[in-house]
Amino acid sequence: MRYLTFALAKGRLAKETLKLLEKIGITCEEINDPKTRKLIFQNDELGVRFFLSKPSDVPTYVEYGVADIGVVGRDTLLEEGRNLYEVLDLGFGKCRMCVCGPESARELLTKNEIIRVASKYPNIAKNYFKEKKNQTVEIIKLNGSVELAPIVGLSEVIVDIVETGSTLKENGLTVLEEITDLSARVVVNQVSLRMEHERINKLLKELKDVLETA
Ligand code: PRP
Repeated sequence: MRYLTFALAKGRLAKETLKLLEKIGITCEEINDPKTRKLIFQNDELGVRFFLSKPSDVPTYVEYGVADIGVVGRDTLLEEGRNLYEVLDLGFGKCRMCVCGPESARELLTKNEIIRVASKYPNIAKNYFKEKKNQTVEIIKLNGSVELAPIVGLSEVIVDIVETGSTLKENGLTVLEEITDLSARVVVNQVSLRMEHERINKLLKELKDVLETA
């Protein structure tokens, strides 16, 4: 039997996904060892293999077909824009992509002014301001702690993930506009879905059943 390969986003998302897979009998003992630095795990009995990669690389592994299935946040899918089939919303990792800033920046979003927008998600930010708002902006790519940018004057607003809202609150910022809802998604390689449709559809059905009864 051919191995069915999963690419998982390292961290909390992978942990949640493995818990869910365990409920449908797909397990891999070694992967739960907190000390391990390994990046590939397999269960020979079940014919499954797992890659653990950076979240933003999951869509790449799946598009190129080295992984059949990926689990990753919708934020990453929108940002990376890869050719994949998005087949299932797992319902965890729920949060929102928003334009945020100090309350005083709200009016800058209504006047078609040229403003600076800092984000870890330059493509999402660019598309939102261009397609939805038709506002010309300068995008500044950052790699984390994006909330710092409007506080220190690097940008007027940010485009970032808001989960509980406490990072914004503690830094005197607020949600100015909502771009979209986010959560963990299952994606499948386009060729794999045809070649392995029986196995993949069975797996998706089992996952759906578990999610519905949860
Ligand atoms: C994310 C996001 C926000 C924060 C939102 O950052 O970029 O900063 O979480 O969560 P909250 O609304 O519950 O406060 P993350 O912790 O991933 O780190 P980063 O700043 O390095 O991106």
